[in-house]
Amino acid sequence: MKFELDDGFIAYDHHGTGIPLLFIHGYPLSRKIWIPQMEGLADIASSISVDLRGHGESYPFEGSYSMDLLAGDCKRLLDGLNIKSPILVCGLSMGGYVTMALFRKYRQLFKGMILTSTRSGADSTEAKQNRDASMKNVREHGVSFIVENMLPKSISPRTLTLNPNLVNSIRDIMMETSVQGVVGALQGMRDRPDSTPFLSQINCPVLIIHGADDQLISTHEAELMNKQIPDSRLIIIQEAGHLPNLEQPENFNQALRDFIQSLS
Ligand code: MLT
Repeated sequence: MKFELDDGFIAYDHHGTGIPLLFIHGYPLSRKIWIPQMEGLADIASSISVDLRGHGESYPFEGSYSMDLLAGDCKRLLDGLNIKSPILVCGLSMGGYVTMALFRKYRQLFKGMILTSTRSGADSTEAKQNRDASMKNVREHGVSFIVENMLPKSISPRTLTLNPNLVNSIRDIMMETSVQGVVGALQGMRDRPDSTPFLSQINCPVLIIHGADDQLISTHEAELMNKQIPDSRLIIIQEAGHLPNLEQPENFNQALRDFIQSLS
């Protein structure tokens, strides 16, 4: 389905019955990564998955996608769907950065938060330089350049060897991202603020999920967040990399199910 913004639209799905649960994907991905969760949790959650601007079927907006801008898009969608608080928000990687931005601005919206494969810190100088190099590369060589570089690091070595169908579907999802989407997200992530000082203010229950074999964001980052958020629990999923919801969907869904049940 499509939701109109002022200068374009974003795509979303809405499925299931229960507590409202907003899923926010990472970069350069789309709402398709949440299909196993939308289906697997349909009996306990009314799930909304969104394609962030420039990603999936959403309009390829120009410009930098600050985390606040992406969070604002999500809030407009929730308002448009007349979804009232309290809700759960589950963000993966860049989606986690957006979740933190959403919480900073609309904390009354949250019943709980799921931070997956993400971190609270800002980019280091080296990471900012890598973002700039990636922007140049995508403009010169197209999205496939980014995808072929990122894909093997996005999953565990085990998934890469044993699950070629999943590898191909992730590649297809990544390839649907527009050049504008890649550039906008890279700029927004490069310039995002450090959310670490803010972790101690998170006043809702938080579930942190991380793949044991994540090559893009180390488990150490998840442990740091778990130490600083007052009411959090950390689940490390074995035999999964940066995309545990796709690599180990049953374990991931069970963790979400247990979390949701613990809130009621
Ligand atoms: C993501 O998966 O969203 C990205 O790897 C996050 C990042 O590049 O910081």
